[in-house]
Amino acid sequence: MSKIATVTIDDLKVDLPLIEGTDNENAIDIEKLRAATGLVTLDPGYKNTGACKSAITYLDGEKGILRYRGYSIEDLAEKSNFLEVAYLIIFGELPTKTQIEQFENDIRKHTLVNEEMKSIIDGFPKHAHPMGVLSSLTCALTAFNPSVVNVANEKQMYDAICKIMGKFLVLATWTYRKAKGYPLNYYDNTKSYVENFLRLMFQLPTEPYKVNPVVQNAIDKLFILHADHEQNCSTSTVRMVGSSHAGLFASISAGVSALWGPLHGGANQAVLEMLEEIQKDGGDADKYLAKAKDKNDPFRLMGFGHRVYKNFDPRARIIKKAAEEVLADLGVNDPILKIAKDLEEKALKDEYFVARNLYPNVDFYSGIIYRALGIPTEMFTVMFAIGRLPGWVAQWKEMRENKEPIGRPRQLYIGESFRAFKEINER
Ligand code: CMC
Repeated sequence: MSKIATVTIDDLKVDLPLIEGTDNENAIDIEKLRAATGLVTLDPGYKNTGACKSAITYLDGEKGILRYRGYSIEDLAEKSNFLEVAYLIIFGELPTKTQIEQFENDIRKHTLVNEEMKSIIDGFPKHAHPMGVLSSLTCALTAFNPSVVNVANEKQMYDAICKIMGKFLVLATWTYRKAKGYPLNYYDNTKSYVENFLRLMFQLPTEPYKVNPVVQNAIDKLFILHADHEQNCSTSTVRMVGSSHAGLFASISAGVSALWGPLHGGANQAVLEMLEEIQKDGGDADKYLAKAKDKNDPFRLMGFGHRVYKNFDPRARIIKKAAEEVLADLGVNDPILKIAKDLEEKALKDEYFVARNLYPNVDFYSGIIYRALGIPTEMFTVMFAIGRLPGWVAQWKEMRENKEPIGRPRQLYIGESFRAFKEINER
């Protein structure tokens, strides 16, 4: 028998269906609530609102579980690679050898970016934040690929996906090259996706470039860990913009903008800036823990806490290990990292953080690896965006395939009631 939830408002009783998800997740279906009662629900920040049904990512914040299409993040990070995980997330199954080769080859057909895009890049000031530049360039792709705006069938959708996978990586690295004043590199179709990332970023025309396998492996893992995280702020943005049928590139561009904020993807940059500030101020972790706990001080310990994980972020555990491997391999001895360790140890024992379930999140450690690799702080969120791209694409695809309606939340109006208009001389 299907379950129901009953809402009682004075004498009115309304039965609402309970929808069952996988692994005992339940949701109250309120689609008919307004029609039956005239009421809407109010849930700022959507803390209790499921905006869609999704078969991509399962997350249990209390237990610290993260799975893509049923596979645990731990298994994927250890046994798979980024492109394979991208395929899994976007198309629903782990690819066969033939399928992954086909996907990689189809992406390679789109790794050349229109040369005219370079004049757009030249229009930005050198010190523009790379996330702003990336968001603009991604949207500009629409102008060079207008057919991608309205995908009418499966083939067009597949082409759009391969295009964004190929071009976004190149554009993301170009934001860095431009800021450095380096020539913009081209994708090398004989190399893998993640190796290309490293070459696009760091290869200079004046000297040979050798890829360090430990570094490549860490980047691959980081991209996998960031690949999807169900209905977070940027993903919800991609689905919302896409729900108006604005097109894939415009939707992804909006996702990049949403990711930029320091409470979301921008936190990895904020973590490093915070650590640098603590270092300049004498490196006293206790002082900053006290600031974070002081309700009259707006300071928050960046890289701690998570909207959904109220237990250790499973991604943080994997990244912490990768960070240790990279630092050992590169022989990095960085005072900033000592401060990070000190903060982490002290916060994990501190009553304030323990009581509120505030653990280090994925951004706390990712910034540490990026810094060790010589990736500048402003690029950290771009790294997150490259990793998150398959998730945004998969969520957009799912939303379009499920023929979801345009996103249009309601509100509770609390402004002035009707007022008669006053002429200017009467105000
Ligand atoms: N430092 C100090 N206190 C904190 C912190 C923090 N980083 N995070 C939460 N708190 C406190 C908060 O003040 C509140 O205390 P009280 O109950 O006494 O009022 C309590 O913990 C609950 O906080 P909240 O703001 O209601 O929690 P939330 O779930 O709405 O916010 C968060 C989650 C991630 C926005 C928040 O923890 C935060 O601002 N963290 C720092 C920024 C950060 O690292 N963001 C990256 C998130 S992971 C990457 C991603 O997926 O985008």
